[in-house]
Amino acid sequence: MLSRHEIASHIVLACHRLYERGFVTATDGNISARLANGNILITPTSLNKGQVAETDLVEVTASGALITLSSTPSSELSMHLFVYKQRPDVRAVVHAHPSHATGFAAARMPLSTALLPEVILGLGTIPLAEYATPSTDEVPASLAPHVKEANAVLLANHGVVTFGATVEEAFFRMEKVEHAAHILFVARMLGGEKTLTEAEIARLKAAAQEKGSPKERPFLTDISEQSVKQLIREVLGEKLKSTDR
Ligand code: 13P
Repeated sequence: MLSRHEIASHIVLACHRLYERGFVTATDGNISARLANGNILITPTSLNKGQVAETDLVEVTASGALITLSSTPSSELSMHLFVYKQRPDVRAVVHAHPSHATGFAAARMPLSTALLPEVILGLGTIPLAEYATPSTDEVPASLAPHVKEANAVLLANHGVVTFGATVEEAFFRMEKVEHAAHILFVARMLGGEKTLTEAEIARLKAAAQEKGSPKERPFLTDISEQSVKQLIREVLGEKLKSTDR
């Protein structure tokens, strides 16, 4: 189980990546994660995700009672809490407005085409939740038909929400959704996508099951103070030796 500091650092890294990748602008988007004590750590409202620091994050209980009193949690807190309540396996939620995927959401088109092997295996189909007024309890209600089956949902005329067992997994799913939407958009510009057949999908799933999934590197390598000091000693030691010569 990761410590509060580790989880907070993963949220901060994912926030910065969301902004750098252009998945959010201005103060859009929010990220949360479940802590070992069952509480939820979430980004504050109205802060640019490129500027989020660990000290900005807000801790709330699973029912939304404030533990951190110094800042206000995201206005989409009720959506995050709803996902954690419905999905005990989920430990992180990412909400963003990436252009292509949000374009499909604005056109009210789910990403349900069996087009790309990685997306079929990693995400399955990406449903479209009915339009709900952002930051209200309409948003969790719109997710209700999809939250148990999907790990990524398009929010009509709003954006995308992804879930994962870690912040990294939820973030990667957001990247995958946007990439898939971009590719589908390009394929449609080129005359239309050619979807995989039932037989091709069955062969793909069988091959994936046979191979298993490869182990990925951790999202963030936590370098302890001790190992940084050791590294500095080694570098300085080398430098002193080379000036002795
Ligand atoms: P917050 O700044 O309150 O998290 O809201 C951003 C957003 O994207 C609302 O949908």
